[in-house]
Amino acid sequence: MLEKRELGQSGIKVNPMGLGLWAMGGTTWGATDDKESINTIDQALELGVDFFDTADVYGDGHSEVLLGKAMKGRRDKFVVGTKIGWIDFDGEAKHSSYLTPEMLIKGVENNLKRLNTNYIDLLQWHVNFRDTTMESFLEGAQHLKDSGKIRAFGLSTSDYPYIQEFYSQGDASSLQIDYSILNRTAEKEIFPFTRQKQIGTIIRGGLAMGLLTGKFDADSEFSKGDFRESWKSDSDQHEQFLKDIAVVDQLKSAFPDQTLAQLALRFILSNSSVSIVIPGAKRIDQLKSNVASAELGLLSQDEMKRIDKIVSPGGGRKIWPA
Ligand SMILES: NC(=O)c1ccc[n+]([C@@H]2O[C@H](COP(=O)([O-])OP(=O)(O)OC[C@H]3O[C@@H](n4cnc5c(N)ncnc54)[C@H](OP(=O)(O)O)[C@@H]3O)[C@@H](O)[C@H]2O)c1
Repeated sequence: MLEKRELGQSGIKVNPMGLGLWAMGGTTWGATDDKESINTIDQALELGVDFFDTADVYGDGHSEVLLGKAMKGRRDKFVVGTKIGWIDFDGEAKHSSYLTPEMLIKGVENNLKRLNTNYIDLLQWHVNFRDTTMESFLEGAQHLKDSGKIRAFGLSTSDYPYIQEFYSQGDASSLQIDYSILNRTAEKEIFPFTRQKQIGTIIRGGLAMGLLTGKFDADSEFSKGDFRESWKSDSDQHEQFLKDIAVVDQLKSAFPDQTLAQLALRFILSNSSVSIVIPGAKRIDQLKSNVASAELGLLSQDEMKRIDKIVSPGGGRKIWPA
């Protein structure tokens, strides 16, 4: 595995290959099997993975509960990144239910209960656009840090004006963003900003919701309960899906000697602005392939140039809206 990297200036050092636990929540990315999910977390730990990303809202809390079960008796082996912000979000007024720092602090007690722990390593604000409760989060998170309930806090969004505002206040350590070969937009403004401010970066969308594994084609079907079904049913999304597949095909032809998923993850780990990547493996075979990509080392200059020809630096499109 690659050497551990520090998450910003938090003092938290983690293996750069992490694991995203949204899919294991079981409600959004197709059905999952809890036993298989726990085995996958066990195996991840055995392979040296130590950062696990979850949220209050994934599977209505089920993802956090599963992680809590997996951590039982060995909490110190895990670095837990969880999130808060979407439960009871007021869609009409467009703000979270955490109207005061005290409400935020109370809300985090629920994360702690589900995770069956007395501290969270990294608490991330999940609201991906500027809302009126951002200050409650920042103040509440600072109190939680001072009292030892969390070790560090950060934000999850790719909205650059919002990012600038969030980090102009408080002492946040990390930023979770969407970044991949298909979406290199962070190279323009976000990475120069995080480098300058020494903010740790957590990369989601590294496999572009599975597109960059190369396993989908125009005839792919998605199972019931898998939100990617809209790539087939919605005509605009279908058009975009076909365009993405055309780029994926170009990548496959340019790199016949390695799997696309491994190329995609090596591309991310080769960027010195990246702290951690958190692909959402659901099963042990996916996990092993992702971890193995970290062992293949950084991309060569020639490999990088071949990618640049297909998706130019700073180019591509946002896979997650924010
Ligand atoms: N707003 C936010 O804060 C936010 C948003 C999105 C994600 N996240 C975090 O980021 C994590 C990763 O999500 P993502 O959007 O970045 O997803 P991703 O990693 O780009 O794609 C995940 C999907 O790829 C498939 N997959 C993973 N490894 C594979 C492999 N080696 N071979 C084949 N398929 C593989 C998985 O199974 P199937 O294709 O079999 O389903 C999974 O559903 C989430 O778990 C979550 O923790 C956060």
